[in-house]
Amino acid sequence: MTNTERAETNDSDPSMVIEGMRFTSELYDPEIVCSAMKYVARPDDIFIATPPRSGTTWMQIIVYALLNRGRAFDENIDDYIARNPFLEMHGKEAVETMPRPGAIKTHLLFDLMPYHPNAKYICVIRNPKDVCVSFHRFVTSIKGGSLSGITFDGLCERFLAGKTCHADYFEYLLPYWFHKDDPNVLFVLYEEMKKDIRSVINRIAIFLGIEINKKLLERIVMVSSFDYLKNTGYNEKIVPAHTVASFKFIRKGIVGDWRTVLSNEQNRLFNERFREKTRNIPKLSTLWDAYHVFDDE
Ligand code: PPS
Repeated sequence: MTNTERAETNDSDPSMVIEGMRFTSELYDPEIVCSAMKYVARPDDIFIATPPRSGTTWMQIIVYALLNRGRAFDENIDDYIARNPFLEMHGKEAVETMPRPGAIKTHLLFDLMPYHPNAKYICVIRNPKDVCVSFHRFVTSIKGGSLSGITFDGLCERFLAGKTCHADYFEYLLPYWFHKDDPNVLFVLYEEMKKDIRSVINRIAIFLGIEINKKLLERIVMVSSFDYLKNTGYNEKIVPAHTVASFKFIRKGIVGDWRTVLSNEQNRLFNERFREKTRNIPKLSTLWDAYHVFDDE
């Protein structure tokens, strides 16, 4: 039986805890989250599995365009939404009845994710400092939301304690990392997408078994670009279930926004936590070296 409880904290945290993961009650329905965890994965499923604020939307748009010969999300919004169900928000039934081909968005931890050895899992990971900043900007933009008044310092403290973002960031990162060489897993860095989107799109196409030529590649680069999504009003057009608000799925879209936000002490704490969690894990401990994310403070 799925275990649901309300978060016990001394700062009136309004989230529900389901199987150890936190979900805000204003966005998620516990019955739907529980049903999501019971979805039985199919061999033809494609999951886009991420910690929140890591590039999920960007990946969804790329995969949708790849599966549909370059179709942009705004050519047919209803079709885009139907083919991109969000497992924990739309539930098991929406995924069972979704038009295919499509891709399932999920922020479930790897071990809670519905698994089938032939299903495909695209895991997008972003450095935790930018995730934390993006998450803060996201929750504080939700009018009337339970965290809409939280300061960055307050959210950062929770983030470092693993008490926000559905689960501790490292509970996402480590299993994704250990599964990254599985044949049905594609591990992608947000920072790599920013650096060389063409090579990432080619990798995704190979992973999904889709042939792609130069024209299609350029079309997908264009319809998934930050400017295209911003200018076509993605945030306003995609309104999640259970809410009438529009969300900042598309905000700033850069690497290193944390540099202008984190205090020296917060930066130090992130570095310390990252080192402690990735110590003795070759390649993971140096994953963001090229981006100078965990350089000495
Ligand atoms: S969510 O709410 O969990 O689904 O958010 P998610 O889509 O995972 O992540 C949102 C961040 O991704 C940025 N984004 C992009 N960056 C670059 N290019 C493109 N095309 C793009 N699309 C989305 C978005 O702006 C959020 O990051 P921040 O740092 O907040 O800008």
